[in-house]
Amino acid sequence: MKATKIVKILKDKDGTNIGKPITVQGWVRTKRGNNNVTFIAVNDGSIVHNIQIVADSGKFDEDTLKNVTTGACISVTGLLVQSMGRGQSVEIQADKIDVLGLSDPETFPLQKKGHSMEFLRSIAHLRPRTNYFGCVLRLRHGMSFAIHKYFNDKGFFYLHTPIITAADAEGAGEMFRVTTLNMEDVPRTKDGKVDYAEDFFGKPTNLTVSGQLNGEMGAMALGNIYTFGPTFRAENSNTPRHLAEFWMIEPEMAFCDLEDAMCIAEDFIKYCIRYALENNRDDLQFLNDFIDKELIQRLTSIVDADFIRLTYTEAISILIASGHKFEFKVEWGADLQAEHERYLVEQHFKRPVILIDYPKDIKAFYMKQNDDGKTVRAMDILLPKIGELIGGSQREENLEKLLHAIEVRNMSKEELRYYIDTRRFGTAVHSGFGLGFERLLLFITGMTNIRDVIPFPRTPQNAEF
Ligand code: 4AD
Ligand code: MG
Repeated sequence: MKATKIVKILKDKDGTNIGKPITVQGWVRTKRGNNNVTFIAVNDGSIVHNIQIVADSGKFDEDTLKNVTTGACISVTGLLVQSMGRGQSVEIQADKIDVLGLSDPETFPLQKKGHSMEFLRSIAHLRPRTNYFGCVLRLRHGMSFAIHKYFNDKGFFYLHTPIITAADAEGAGEMFRVTTLNMEDVPRTKDGKVDYAEDFFGKPTNLTVSGQLNGEMGAMALGNIYTFGPTFRAENSNTPRHLAEFWMIEPEMAFCDLEDAMCIAEDFIKYCIRYALENNRDDLQFLNDFIDKELIQRLTSIVDADFIRLTYTEAISILIASGHKFEFKVEWGADLQAEHERYLVEQHFKRPVILIDYPKDIKAFYMKQNDDGKTVRAMDILLPKIGELIGGSQREENLEKLLHAIEVRNMSKEELRYYIDTRRFGTAVHSGFGLGFERLLLFITGMTNIRDVIPFPRTPQNAEF
C-alpha cells in the first residue's frame, strides 16, 4: 500500500481518511507505553507535527517493537481513527509495522531532550531530523519557490550567470581561486611567476562573488532578469551573518531608476514574508513558540509598514545627533558599521530602512554618479535583527563616466571590456540589487546564526559534510 504523507493526513479537515486503512513511512521520534500498548510518534518531514501510532502488544512480536527505537525508519499500516488522547486529532491503530532501517539507540545522537544549536551544527547530517531544521528547510524551500513565482509573475526571466569567472566582478569580496594546476609543483614562467597559461582556462579564474555584471548584460536584451544562485566570498569574517558560500537573488531591470528599484525591492521583501505567513504557518508557529516569541508579530508588522527612505548624509546626522556611544566613529565618508545600521533600524526608526546616496569612494565602480560629484545612487536595505539584507544601485549607464570610475580605481578596462560594451551599444538607464537568501531566512525563521539556515554551511575553517 502506497504511503500517505503525514501532512495530507493531518491537514485533511473533512476526515475523508478516517476509518480507512492507511500507510505512513517515516522516522521514529519517540516511543513510550506499557506491556499492553506502545505509542510511537512518527515524523516524515512533510510537516512539523508527528502522527501517533498505537500498537497493541498482542498484534506484534516482541522483536518488532524492540527494533522500533528513536531514529529508526519504519513503515506502518493500520486504521486511521479519531484520537482519544490529548495533543492529536487522529492516530493510526497499527496492524503492520516494518522496520525499514534500524537505529542503535545507544549511539543515535538526537535525544528527546533539547540540543544546543552548536551541537546540532556538529551533526549537520542528522539535524534535518529535528523540528527546528525541518521547519527551516521547509521554509527555505517555500521561499525559493516564492522568489521564482514573484519574478515569473512580474515577467522577469531567470538568467543563469556563470559560477566560474575570470573577472573580479566588482571587488565585492575576496575570491576563491579555481585551478587545476598541481599545487605541489606549480608551473612557472621565465620570470618566476605562476604560469596560468598552463591552467585549465589559460588564465586565473575564481568562484563568482556576484552575478551582477553578467546580469546587466542580460537585462540589456531581455529587459528584466533575475539570478538566483550560489555566490562565494573568501572574506575571513567569522560572524553570525556571513557565509563563505551563500545564495543570492539579483534582479536587474532596464528602464528602471533607483526610485523604481526601491519600490520593487520593498514589494519583493514583503511578498516573501507574506508568502511565508500564508503558506508555512505551522513552521512559523513552531519557530515562534520555541525560538522567538515575537517572530510572527514582527513578520506581520513588516508587511504592514512602509520602509523609511533616507540618504546616507541624513543617516550620519541622525547618528551624530543621537549622542550614542558607538565603537566605530561616525563621520561622513566612512562606511556604516553593523552597530550604526542597527541603531537606525532598531532604536531610531524601529522599522526597515532604505539608505541611499552613499559616498562614491566606499561603493563599487558601476554605481550611477550623482550630480553632486560626491555620492552615488546606491541603496542598502536594513532590517531589524539582521542589518543589511539588500545591496543595490542604479548603474552608471554613461560610457565616459563609467570609464572614468574604472580609471580612478585602477581597475582593468581590458578585463571589463564586455561590460563596457553594454554602454557602447544601446545603453539604457538600469538598476538592480542583490538580496542575501540566508539573511532573508534569518529574518523569516527568527534563527540568530546564519549557519543554521543553510543545510551545510561553509565558513572559515569549516567545510564539513
Ligand atoms: O551588498 P553586496 O555585496 O552586493 C552585491 O554583491 C551586488 N553585486 C548586488 C547587486 O547589486 N546585484 O551583497 C548583496 C547581499 C547583501 O546585502 C547581503 O544580504 C548578502 O548579499 N551577503 C551575504 N550573505 C551571507 N554571507 C556573506 N558573506 C554575504 N555577503 C553579502
Ligand atoms: Mg553590501
